[in-house]
Amino acid sequence: MANSKVDLILVTFLFCTASVAAGKARLHSTRSSAAADGICKSLVVTQGYACQEHTVTTKDGYILGLQRIPASRSGQSASKPPVLLQHGLVMDAVTWVMNPPDESLAFILADAGYDVWLSNSRGTLSSHQHTSLSPSDPAYWEWSWDELVAYDMPALLQHVRSLTGQNMHYVGHSLGTLIALAAFSHKELVNMPRSAVLLSPIAYVSQMTSPIARSAAENFLAEALYRSGIYEFDLRWEGLVKLLQDICQKPGVDCTHLLTSFTGPNCCLNSTIVDVFLDHEPQPTSMKNLIHLAQMVRDGKISMYDYGDEAQNMEHYGQATPPLYNMSSIPNDLPLFLSYGGADALSDVRDVKLLLESLKDHDGDKLVTQYREDYAHMDFVMGENAREVVYDALMVFLRLQ
Ligand SMILES: *[C@@H]1O[C@H](CO)[C@@H](O)[C@H](O)[C@H]1NC(C)=O
Ligand SMILES: *[C@@H]1O[C@H](CO)[C@@H](O)[C@H](O)[C@H]1NC(C)=O
Repeated sequence: MANSKVDLILVTFLFCTASVAAGKARLHSTRSSAAADGICKSLVVTQGYACQEHTVTTKDGYILGLQRIPASRSGQSASKPPVLLQHGLVMDAVTWVMNPPDESLAFILADAGYDVWLSNSRGTLSSHQHTSLSPSDPAYWEWSWDELVAYDMPALLQHVRSLTGQNMHYVGHSLGTLIALAAFSHKELVNMPRSAVLLSPIAYVSQMTSPIARSAAENFLAEALYRSGIYEFDLRWEGLVKLLQDICQKPGVDCTHLLTSFTGPNCCLNSTIVDVFLDHEPQPTSMKNLIHLAQMVRDGKISMYDYGDEAQNMEHYGQATPPLYNMSSIPNDLPLFLSYGGADALSDVRDVKLLLESLKDHDGDKLVTQYREDYAHMDFVMGENAREVVYDALMVFLRLQ
């Protein structure tokens, strides 16, 4: 299935990364005009749903964009509690609305009567503003997922709670699960949600099999880029996305394999979704965030960002090594729904088992696990059959909370 083309594309990605590392001029990012209109206008209203754009400012000054779908497609106002959907790494809220309405989780929830909120992490298109910094300032990118836990999460949860007066359900995919697990392990950080749904959970990551992620971590690629003065990680270099789109539109080329080296072989993507994907994703993140994740791949722990020397750790944390997030501290009565896949190269089954081991004292009736042998990382949010495979059980879980 045109695998040599796919390999070529991957080499192109790596070449671009390397050329940036070599200090060559960075090309301008490309964004489709659809994306520039905002997610509500380009992807939600077009499917026949009402949609509101919201913003919330974090304590450290990032202005986050949120989309709210307050009614079903037929216009019936939400009668059930709010649900916040948090995307994963190098993605944004488009994650939840890429497929047709009867296949995309955000629309399925809205049609079932939930008040649906879509969050966007700092640095993504909807959330690139700041009260005093600009994305061209290195300081703008000086954060890792620790800050998503400490600042983005509380701001998002408080915003939804203050506008709805209700406690919400939380749904995270990929990195969106890690920031939730970390936040909920520190009771003082956030008010607990009604429940948490963890799709393709990321917590322990040392068994990750993704060749791209592993080799980047083992070769300290993000660290090298950061040291050479690249603080933002953005794969949307001009020309590259266009090149991919041209190749993917050629007859006989199935670009769903494009994601395989990173996520594992997704079983159930419709080839047309790659066009939607490339129109909007991937999104930027900070190099420091990638360094933090690489540290976790190498050392197998879930700890805060390691500054790499005792004095700096001491300065930030008052101790020589970064503090751990303790998964066993998540309240035992917090209802959890955890869904993982046998073909997932980022959320490896052995790592998920470690997470489940640390949740072994969780109240038995508050932890629902779901396993699907043929699912890889993106099937959970982009799979054509995710409704039958994952969301039907997820909806039953939400109803019971
Ligand atoms: C893929 O999605 C398109 C657009 O939603 C649809 O028309 C087509 O039938 C789907 N392909 C398959 C194989 O299901
Ligand atoms: C993690 O939390 C659990 C439950 O509160 C506690 O028993 C355990 O000692 C903690 N582990 C560490 C490493 O702090």
